[in-house]
Amino acid sequence: MERTFVMLKPGVLQRRIAGEVIGRFERKGLKIIAMKLLHMDKITAEVHYAEHKGRDFYEKLLAYTLSGPVIAMVLEGNEAISVVRRLAGSTSLADAQPGTIRGDYAACTRLNIVHASDSPGSAEREIGLFFGKGEICAWEDGNAGWF
Ligand code: CMP
Repeated sequence: MERTFVMLKPGVLQRRIAGEVIGRFERKGLKIIAMKLLHMDKITAEVHYAEHKGRDFYEKLLAYTLSGPVIAMVLEGNEAISVVRRLAGSTSLADAQPGTIRGDYAACTRLNIVHASDSPGSAEREIGLFFGKGEICAWEDGNAGWF
């Protein structure tokens, strides 16, 4: 099992589509093992997007990220990092395929609705930036309490 970090950007809450977006990950069978709603502070946003510092879109990316609350999540599943990246779709507006989250909901590359870790190293770093160990709630299938 692999863990990955996902952030639903401010546009998700603003457009009232959190349930739809989270539902796509759940329908695929990914397990939510941590989730929180937060208004990110500037330092956390700068650390999170440090690799993009200096790019022409960096300041606007930070402004968007800080413009409202985000939903941070840790998802677990087989090959979760690449599965989530495929569900999210390409970063670039022109390349994001219909049927992917970005392909269906994003109208601008910078405002591309979701962030998802791109490697095991990023996943570990990003999970650690947003969640303490005690906030990860690992659980087993088979005890849903339906019966
Ligand atoms: P994300 O997956 O959160 O990681 C970095 C973010 O920078 C990316 O999604 C986009 O929101 C933004 N980004 C990346 N490339 C560009 C670009 N060429 N123009 C504008 N924004 C970009």
